[in-house]
Amino acid sequence: MSQLSRPSGSTRLDSYVDRYAARTQGMTASEIRALFSVASRPEVVSLAGGMPNISGLPLDVVGEAIEGLVRTAGTTAMQYGSGQGDPRLRDQICDVMRLEGIEAHPDDVVVTVGSQQAVDLVTRIFCDPGDVVICEAPSYVGALGVFKAYQVDVVHVEMDEHGLVPSSLREAIATVQAAGRRIKFVYTIPNYHNPAGVTLSAQRRPEILEICREADVLVLEDNPYGLLGFDEEPYRALRADEPDGVIYLGSFSKTFAPGFRVGWALAPHAVREKLVLAQESATLCPPSFSQMAVSAYLENHDWVGQIKQFREMYRERRDAMVEALDDMMPPAARWNVPTGGFYVWLTLPDGLDAKAMLPRAVTSRVAFVPGTAFFADGFGAQSMRLSYCYPTPERIREGVRRLVGVIEEEVELRETFGTGLHAAAPPGLTRGYDGPTTDLT
Ligand SMILES: Cc1ncc(COP(=O)(O)O)c(C=O)c1O
Repeated sequence: MSQLSRPSGSTRLDSYVDRYAARTQGMTASEIRALFSVASRPEVVSLAGGMPNISGLPLDVVGEAIEGLVRTAGTTAMQYGSGQGDPRLRDQICDVMRLEGIEAHPDDVVVTVGSQQAVDLVTRIFCDPGDVVICEAPSYVGALGVFKAYQVDVVHVEMDEHGLVPSSLREAIATVQAAGRRIKFVYTIPNYHNPAGVTLSAQRRPEILEICREADVLVLEDNPYGLLGFDEEPYRALRADEPDGVIYLGSFSKTFAPGFRVGWALAPHAVREKLVLAQESATLCPPSFSQMAVSAYLENHDWVGQIKQFREMYRERRDAMVEALDDMMPPAARWNVPTGGFYVWLTLPDGLDAKAMLPRAVTSRVAFVPGTAFFADGFGAQSMRLSYCYPTPERIREGVRRLVGVIEEEVELRETFGTGLHAAAPPGLTRGYDGPTTDLT
């Protein structure tokens, strides 16, 4: 028996536990992961996952593009490629970013394995353990997982219906810097926020940039949903007005398909060089086949028209969810009306705890993500994220109906048994951060 194998009779679940690096302490499975395997059963209406709905994609067009790719450039597509990414695709990425006012050179683009890997690479090259990253409250669960894995301290900053609040950002930066701590960047999702559903107003954008410029803090602009606005032209990216102070992240996951795992970072020149080195040590190169398939799709298909169709489909689903909430939710619950993207952020009546409610909700065949998943500091117990991107409008309405039933029952229980039952714990005593699960995007 090898020394590393588990001693017979050991009752320890993981006999390697003493050997792991300290950073793995941040890599804990969510307590709610088990519930989500139940939530993926067909009888459950899942308002939890953020999976893009790609049923409208023209599979024949994609199929032909991929067949043509294999026939005409198969040996290149199936070979290692450049660590920075396919030059033709980097050129096309610049066309995509132009829709948001960005004038960029393909040399400054690094292709990544989804924008998730871009968050990882940026954190890897900038953050030492104990450095501070400023995030919105709440923030994207996948980014919080990366920050935790790199032992970064997250400081949350308030948002309202117009996005990140400039005065809160200024105050947080001043407080952290006055304590002698290093802020490596402000991580922000300006458009159709995951999970909050809000968008940073056009008026606030220059102010946020000015605050970061004055404090000499980089901005990490994560923008997978920017082209999925329902009513308006795309917002001007923060990067469009601040090429040296902003690292911009984009993705084809929501505007085409997530299975290709193609995203990108646009970075100031020096940072780009470090990102390529980090990319090479992580993967040697992003997958050539995926990149060339995305490139062929962009070349052969009306991708702007396709995004328009996606937007209409998501708008219909947003309308279904908001109408159902308006019709059925008790008045003490509050939620926002997103103008794009996939998510509604709902705050429960006082005293209710979304995570405590989840098992009962899943038993009632509806699922959501409790708000605590989106905070690094245990806040968010009274809130939840509802996704409308995937189910049909009818299923969304049914899901909201079931959810309302669960909330009403909880309110009744609370009235009968008092506040102790599932009361939201006060800040600081709330349950810890869940860590990301693969079910949550
Ligand atoms: C805000 C945000 N950033 C990044 C990602 C990662 O996307 P991908 O790696 O598929 O590009 C997601 C996915 O849901 C997201 O919502």
